[in-house]
Parts: sequence; C-alpha cells; structure tokens
Amino acid sequence: MYNDKKVVFSGVQPSGNLTIGNYLGAIRNFSAFSNEYHCYYCVVDMHAITVRQNPAELRRRTYETLALYMACGLDPEKNTLFVQSHVPQHAELGWVLDCYTMFGELSRMTQFKDKSAKNADNINAGLFTYPSLMAADILLYQTELVPVGIDQKQHLELARDIANRFNQIYGETFVVPEGFIPKEGAKICSLQDPTKKMSKSDTNENAVVRILDSKDDIIRKFKRAVTDSNNEIIFSLEKPGISNLLTIYSCVTDKTIAEAEREFAGMGYGDFKLAVGEAVADNLAPVRAEFARLMADKAYLEATMAKGADEAFRNARRTMSKVKRKIGFTEPKH
Ligand code: TYM
Repeated sequence: MYNDKKVVFSGVQPSGNLTIGNYLGAIRNFSAFSNEYHCYYCVVDMHAITVRQNPAELRRRTYETLALYMACGLDPEKNTLFVQSHVPQHAELGWVLDCYTMFGELSRMTQFKDKSAKNADNINAGLFTYPSLMAADILLYQTELVPVGIDQKQHLELARDIANRFNQIYGETFVVPEGFIPKEGAKICSLQDPTKKMSKSDTNENAVVRILDSKDDIIRKFKRAVTDSNNEIIFSLEKPGISNLLTIYSCVTDKTIAEAEREFAGMGYGDFKLAVGEAVADNLAPVRAEFARLMADKAYLEATMAKGADEAFRNARRTMSKVKRKIGFTEPKH
C-alpha cells in the first residue's frame, strides 16, 4: 500500500519527559508528511540505553512516547508508529554499519563528547557507536527525509556518508537521506541558560518546559526565564534569552518573529514572559488532554505498537536481505 511513496523516518528517545524542544523542533512537524510520504516514527529505546536507565521508567516512557506521538496528531492508520527494539533488523544493520564507520568519524561527534563528559563513569561502546545505529534506523527503510532538530545534523551527515560509502563499494543499496530541519524551532534553548539547547535530561527543572507540564508550571517557568539587559523585546544575537522566547512564541502562535516583535513593542519583560507562557500552555492543552485519554487505554497502545512493529518489520527485512546478499552473507535454506 505504501510502496510508491517516498519515506520519512524520525525517532525520539524515551529517555526523559519530552520537552517543548522535542515538540517544536521535531514531533509537531511530523504529521505534515503523513499524506505524501510513508512515515515511520520510532521510539528509539535501544538508543536510550546508551545512558543508564531505570527499567520500570524506560518501559513507562516507551508507552508515553508512543502516546505523545499520537497526542501530537500522528494517526497510526496513516503513519507507522513503532518501538525500535521490536524490529530486530535495527540491531542487525547497526552491527553491519559499525564495520563501515570509522573510529575517527565517531570520535568527532559532539554528542558523544558531551554525553561522555556528563556520564564520565559510563562511557560505553554503545554511546560511541550510537550514530551508526542511528544510520541503520534511517537506511533500513530507504528514507528520503529525516525531520530533526539542529542537534542531530551531524549524525545525519554521518548517516549520509555511511550510505554513500556502502553504495560505492557494493552498488546502489541505500537511498541517501536528506535532513529536514525546521526554519523556526530547530534549536529551542534552556530558559535558564539560553546559550545552551533545552535538554530533557537537564536537572534544573526551571530550565526545561515539558510537553506534559501543567499550565501553572509552564507559566511559572516562563516567568522565571532568564532575560537580557535593557528592556527591548527584539530578536538579536546579543539577546539570546529574549530571542529564545520570541522563537517559542512565534512557533506556538504561527506568527512571524517580526509580528511578535511588533506585538510586544514597548511591553515590559514581566508581561512579555507571561504572554509567552500562556501561549505555550494554551497550545499544549489539547495535547495533554489527548495524552491522558490515550494513556488510559493501554490495550489500544499495545495494539498500535504491535501493528507498527509488523509494518516496519516487513520493510526492514527487505533492506536487510539485500544488504546481506551484497556483503556476501549466506542464508540458511530451511
Ligand atoms: P532526541 O530524543 O534527543 O530528540 C528528539 C528530537 O527532538 C529534537 N530536539 C530539539 N529540537 C529543538 N530544540 C531542542 N532543544 C531539541 N532537543 C531535541 C532532536 O533534534 C530530535 O529530532 N538521536 C536522536 C534520536 C534518533 C533519531 C534516529 C532521529 C535515533 N535514531 C533516526 C532521527 C532519525 C535523539 O537523540 O533525539
């Protein structure tokens, strides 16, 4: 049914409560592709274990991430929504691609350097080879387009390099994917340090707005957001705090930055921050309500997961057997 369509793939780690960075930079853009493309949206639990996870929490967050996909407008009848570990070809192709990815390339990944610094007692091999597993996720489905935030650009470029390298050695095997990075919202920054990206693992709760935070929490966090000196509400490199808030406002209201600047011209920072907080809370209210409804129906979530795994498996198997043939693996004749 999907064979004539081009493919979109993206993934989110169930490694923490998702933030408005995940939402504005990635998830809320996903549904726009559903009609034109065959879309695979994956809960990448195998990536999550590169950092130590509590098993019960990982399990719960896997369901929650799937429910959030749907609450953000992804219809499981129109998109393949699934969990990475349910489709064994991810690990299988991940291993093969490890053998076509250079140590030097992986050593240059900024996410590896950042995460190694943050988890100095657990710099495991999976953290290092994370990008070749991510390449496997993408290449397994012959993906054309990968919607992600800017922090994934480097990984995506490596996935392209790996695909090109493999194709050069063995002939056309993989589609070489393109990134789709939104113009607005590709890097939502921390509310406490607007020079850093907002991260779901930040331990300072005031820095991070979660998709499922209550309206009161959202407004309180925006009220406490760090701003910049002088009172002008304009978008500028010298004003990272105000620029971040203007970006968030523009994303959730679908207004341009220039329109937002005009709207807030002459207003004090306190009123401005309150207005941004309210706009975000209003935008997220329907997502929260739908999420609660879905989480109450575990049987439906499980059926969705199973259906997604079957769909993904069928297509992943095709690429994997092509790869095995190309590299010279044998297949058992039963
Ligand atoms: P993850 O789980 O860290 O983030 C999920 C998505 O959210 C985007 N994002 C942001 N966008 C804007 N501002 C932010 N502050 C912000 N923080 C996160 C990320 O860019 C991402 O699009 N490696 C990926 C998961 C992954 C994947 C894949 C993605 C695994 N395999 C294959 C695409 C294709 C990750 O850690 O995302």
